[in-house]
Amino acid sequence: MFPHAARSALIALAVILWLAPWGPALAAEGLVVYSARKEELIRPAIEAFQQERGIKVSLLTGKAGELARRIEIERGDPKGDVFLGTTAGVTELLRRKGALEPYPSPYAKEIPEEFKAPDGSWVGITGRVRVIIYNKNLVKDADAPRSFFDLTDPKWRGKIVVASMGERTTVGHLATIMALRGEEFTTRYVRALKDNGLKVLSNNTEVRKAVTRGEYAVGITNHYYYLLQLRENPASPLGIIYPDQGPGDMGAPVYSITAAIVKGAKSLDAAKKFVDFLLQPKGNRLLVEGEFEIPLLPGARLVGDDRGILGLGQFKKAAVTQIQVADFEPTVEKLFGPLLIP
Ligand SMILES: [Fe+2]
Repeated sequence: MFPHAARSALIALAVILWLAPWGPALAAEGLVVYSARKEELIRPAIEAFQQERGIKVSLLTGKAGELARRIEIERGDPKGDVFLGTTAGVTELLRRKGALEPYPSPYAKEIPEEFKAPDGSWVGITGRVRVIIYNKNLVKDADAPRSFFDLTDPKWRGKIVVASMGERTTVGHLATIMALRGEEFTTRYVRALKDNGLKVLSNNTEVRKAVTRGEYAVGITNHYYYLLQLRENPASPLGIIYPDQGPGDMGAPVYSITAAIVKGAKSLDAAKKFVDFLLQPKGNRLLVEGEFEIPLLPGARLVGDDRGILGLGQFKKAAVTQIQVADFEPTVEKLFGPLLIP
């Protein structure tokens, strides 16, 4: 066991940044958050938590898979207290390995069951929707693809772009299709996309920029990249489609950002307070606004509705739970990882 000071010093070596300023009433104990969400997106929520609860937060950001491996390596002497994942998949895997501390927060009651681990090991705090974006200079609104499955049509040959499996939402998207349509169908679909000249870029930011520049007519990505692009340049020639909305269609996949407490967390009490804060109206609103994500809490404010962004219940959602998606993620990574490389 490390004394707390030594533990903090160790983390400081690895930590990307320490958030400042600390409030005047800091507790001696700090909280260590491992986050697969980008630092700038969760900073407002973390700063508000520090100020309101007087608990110092140190943040380590990284890819979900890397942080999960770190949590596993540190078992027995955990350095991180809370893990924020970008989809439920990696978090659910940690739960199955016994690496998480169940905490059914009283503030999680209103989160729909499909976005929670049944034993309280993780909870969805905000959501993201898988969408199609298109370049309006290259595609007329009326001609934009209405389905992910239309993208195998020769008319889109060489015009489609997606992020690699380094982005968990690419994995989650294919896992959703596999959960609903089976492995054979999904394999045929991915091969047909590749045969149709699907271009793979390393991440979703590159996808939104390439479509905005007109290098590709159509991108498969998450709804908030559309809003991020418009924030960067409101004149961007970008359109958004919620795909597969017809009767009998699959619906658009939705993924949740998850919060989980690490098993044996040294700052367990602070970790619980942090999870509570992210689910309470103020903390949750900061997340939704900072990340342009959709609220999972009923009645919470949606960002971007003036630009066509839809909240839960306003569009047809793919009928899977986060756990069903998680079940298929390892198979998706094994089968399609080698195909979907930049
Ligand atoms: Fe993202």
